[in-house]
Amino acid sequence: MDPHETILVLDFGSQYTQLIARRVRELGVYTEVLGHHEPGPAVLARRPRGIVLSGGPDSVYREGAPRLDPALLEAGVPVLGICYGMQLLAHLLGGGVERARGREYGSADITILKPLELLAGIPSPMRVWMSHGDHVAEPPAGFEVLAATGNAPVAAMGDPARRLYGIQFHPEVSHTPQGMTLLGNFAERICGCRRSWSMSSFIAESIREVRERARGERVVAGISGGVDSAVAAALVHRAIGSGLVSVFVDTGLLRKNEAREVLDMLRDRLGMEVRFVEAGERFLRALRGLADPERKRKAIGETFIRVFEEAAEALGGIRMLVQGTLYPDVIESTTEKGPSSVIKSHHNVGGLPEKLGLEILEPLRWLFKDEVRRVGMELGVPEEIVQRHPFPGPGLAVRVLGEVTEERLAILREADAIFLEELRRAGLYAKVQQAFAVLLPVQTVGVMGDERTYENVLALRSVDTQDFMTADWSRLPEELLARVSSRIVNEVRGVNRVVYDITTKPPGTIEWE
Ligand code: XMP
Repeated sequence: MDPHETILVLDFGSQYTQLIARRVRELGVYTEVLGHHEPGPAVLARRPRGIVLSGGPDSVYREGAPRLDPALLEAGVPVLGICYGMQLLAHLLGGGVERARGREYGSADITILKPLELLAGIPSPMRVWMSHGDHVAEPPAGFEVLAATGNAPVAAMGDPARRLYGIQFHPEVSHTPQGMTLLGNFAERICGCRRSWSMSSFIAESIREVRERARGERVVAGISGGVDSAVAAALVHRAIGSGLVSVFVDTGLLRKNEAREVLDMLRDRLGMEVRFVEAGERFLRALRGLADPERKRKAIGETFIRVFEEAAEALGGIRMLVQGTLYPDVIESTTEKGPSSVIKSHHNVGGLPEKLGLEILEPLRWLFKDEVRRVGMELGVPEEIVQRHPFPGPGLAVRVLGEVTEERLAILREADAIFLEELRRAGLYAKVQQAFAVLLPVQTVGVMGDERTYENVLALRSVDTQDFMTADWSRLPEELLARVSSRIVNEVRGVNRVVYDITTKPPGTIEWE
């Protein structure tokens, strides 16, 4: 990705680090996140147009607190320190940082004292989001105070000659309405970046890269029905056409009609060559007698690898495997703590590449999830797939609690389909981040007509979340829940009671197993 004008974000452990990178990309400027311990020369070797120092939970005075190579401040590269990043700037350059009288957390109005370039076009007072314990009491020599609040005498500071800036608040969160203007000022006016990063430029470059790496050899992609694997395969297909063969393993653990829909879409709408492997029975056999969630996961993972391996070997002459790894996974492995907002991508094909001696192609490794969706749309991957909620690799097996049987899978599939259909109809599917049904290993007494029933309980789960690390349960409208419940009990044989999960994460998880 060298040709880009890049802004680097150094991660000092803030939960918002990834968000900073995403926001800058939304401005049309390419960004990458690096761990704060990355040596100064290595950072500069990437020729950044600018560097953002993220916030972080530490105090600059604590021994062992994350540090910054001072050489980065002398290289003539513009720097924007946010919160902890600003305190670090002040500390390193001889200013004063002290413990604030009280922790400042939440919205605040700052008064702009000097509208230097960083704050150009932003009216005073500016509503911002604060979250800090320490603050800068005295800016370093050469710095001017640009903004202040009652609590923070230096809410923003800058040394325009050296192009070094610090802000105490968080421009990346939506609670700072002018945050994008500020980041745009930094990227464009101070770093001189053009807004040239876009999904179409990304696609064009990726196509070139994939062609170069594949060098006319055959490539295999595993399709899971999820967004990432579909978009990764579509991108490689755009680059090398029939050089790509996709393998879609139907584990029998997918949702209602899912396998068929995904297959038709890839074949008919995108013209891809897809080997469809129906392995439902094999997975059920592997799951027989298993009730423990981890043992179930393990059995599925092992079976998947075996089935995929056989399919890839049958194709013969394959040299590369496409994986739908996303940028958050890459960041996690390259920054020390890893930003907190990371979903584990439980890649089902883990372990396979070494076994089969395959090179890995990860065309989405520079993208965030929302960018993957945009790339998918540009490549013509239908919206139904691109906008899909995440679905766990082990599929419905972790939503049929206890032992998985064909019969119980069928019950869950029907109920889940009704829930999702009603959610879509109410226009809420895209508003919540993940919604699904769970079949419980509990039976309860009910009465239908004049008859006593003794059937399964089904739970509905819907969550609102930014990053899947924490989540709140969706406040779905009562009428919707009522309709879903009544339809499920009436239409799905085997369920006579529906409950709604009102547990947050933490302490709960999103899935039940
Ligand atoms: P939890 O249940 O840990 O889920 O709160 C967080 C997110 O990860 C998904 N998830 C999985 N995805 N294999 C996957 O590919 C798994 O074993 C797995 N377990 C959970 C879950 O659906 C949610 O989006």
